[in-house]
Amino acid sequence: MTRPDYVIDKMISAKTIAARIEVLARQIATEFNGSNDLVMVGLLRGSFVFIADLVRELTLPVEVDFLEVSSYGDAMESSREIRILKDLRGEIAGRDVLVVEDIVDTGYTLAHVVRLLKTRNPARLRTIALLDKPSRREVDIRADYIGFEIPDEFVVGYGIDYAQRNRNLPYIGKVRFTGG
Ligand code: IMP
Ligand code: MG
Repeated sequence: MTRPDYVIDKMISAKTIAARIEVLARQIATEFNGSNDLVMVGLLRGSFVFIADLVRELTLPVEVDFLEVSSYGDAMESSREIRILKDLRGEIAGRDVLVVEDIVDTGYTLAHVVRLLKTRNPARLRTIALLDKPSRREVDIRADYIGFEIPDEFVVGYGIDYAQRNRNLPYIGKVRFTGG
């Protein structure tokens, strides 16, 4: 597979991410204080690092489940539908659910996932995104918890990929194409 040449400029350090997750975990613990039935739903694959760090900062009893969705068909911009590639293993009816996403960009993915999960009648349904690119939004949706707002840059690392690579970087970096 050929990729254009690029370099990665560090944008958010591992240390900064860890500090932010501590704050987010405290906010989540406050909101869900007393809940004995919280399910964190990680959206695969981009959220796998984030959810791993987030659950370890949470002092609440929590279950972890995963959902994988994908855009329909090819790169057609107009087809803003998504389909389920891997559904949850567990039931969420009557339970507290926190959807964990890596980035909210146009908002289509998160909006669709929220719509889908609401049909299963959870008690509470909340969303958290590590990164938010508000300037790219096409659907009126905002995650309940947001790690960092970022400008319209293509980012990688901390679970997030470019053509399946760079998920293993411990920090968030922005991709800069160098040509050639
Ligand atoms: P949305 O449906 O447009 O909000 O898309 C969100 C999804 O697009 C994220 O979960 C990522 O998988 C992907 N995405 C959006 N921005 C980036 C980026 O800067 N780098 C890598 N993936 C991204
Ligand atoms: Mg994603």
